[in-house]
Amino acid sequence: MKQASELLRDLEALEREARAAIADATTTDALEGIRIRLLGRKEGRLTAVLRRLGEIAVEERPALGAAANRVKSALTELLGARAAELGAGAARVPGVDLTLPGRDQWAGARHPVTLVIDEICRVFQSLGFTRVRGPEAETDWYNFISLNTPLDHPAADLHDTFYVSDGILLRSHTSPVQIRTMQAFQPPIRVVVPGLVYRRDPFDASHAPAFEQIEGLAVDQGVSFVDLKATLAEFARRLFGRRATVRFRPSFFPFTEPSAEVDVSCILCGGSGCSTCKGTGWLEIMGAGMVHPAVFENVGYDAERYTGFAFGMGPARVAMVRYGIADIRMLYEADVRFLEQFA
Ligand code: PHE
Repeated sequence: MKQASELLRDLEALEREARAAIADATTTDALEGIRIRLLGRKEGRLTAVLRRLGEIAVEERPALGAAANRVKSALTELLGARAAELGAGAARVPGVDLTLPGRDQWAGARHPVTLVIDEICRVFQSLGFTRVRGPEAETDWYNFISLNTPLDHPAADLHDTFYVSDGILLRSHTSPVQIRTMQAFQPPIRVVVPGLVYRRDPFDASHAPAFEQIEGLAVDQGVSFVDLKATLAEFARRLFGRRATVRFRPSFFPFTEPSAEVDVSCILCGGSGCSTCKGTGWLEIMGAGMVHPAVFENVGYDAERYTGFAFGMGPARVAMVRYGIADIRMLYEADVRFLEQFA
């Protein structure tokens, strides 16, 4: 007669080995092989142990049978858990190869010019400006005449502007929103106006027929050129860093007097000259000036009482310098490989 103790030792050894083998299995096929070797009806090692129960004394059988059943259910549970870990369920779906690398999710990103617009508007918000918008289709009165620009001015020429119908055009700048703002509100006014503008420019490395501008307008009693200069100097420091400076060059716009082109010290070389600033140390980023009295008269403001300044800048230019984008046409690409660099 077999000794019960001998059978119990075999059972314990079997359980120990089986636990290790299940934990080590790395594929569902290997796991299935282990299950068959343990619990298979014909050759299974645990099955064999149960069969040998008949060889031991009758009074010892119940205790040993209970031990064998405990081992069997423990191992069955372990096999199930390990199978789930190895993704056994999905592995059996035809046509699904779980060994393939995962596909990256494209979460979406804001366009680099949008990032710069938001940043610029936040800086002006911190200086007390409110963000407003205006329509992209305008009348020639808002786009030109109210801004002291006669229709025979070159900027109003058919060749430079997209006319939608007689007297209606795609705005060639965001300045008409100066007029709309002054018609809707009384001073004091401080607004920034981001938005698209349209010009019949060739689509090349540095021009596009549709591009973003940010307009600024401040009107109150006693606003002077000093306020304009201080505001833009502080803007440059907040956007580009403490060492950034601005430079004003005399210029002309029909709706401001005096007018200036405003340059910011090159954010790449700090003013010493590099290829981005073409060796000048300066980046041209906006036009600006004091609001022309004729513009105030066109909106019914008292030009004796109020003064103001206005500016208009190109955020695409800032984005190109900041992110090292050499060709403006890249900004119009829908290719996610371009956009995802800014995510
Ligand atoms: N509207 C001008 C342009 O598009 C820029 C500008 C705005 C200049 C406001 C002065 C004041 O070129």
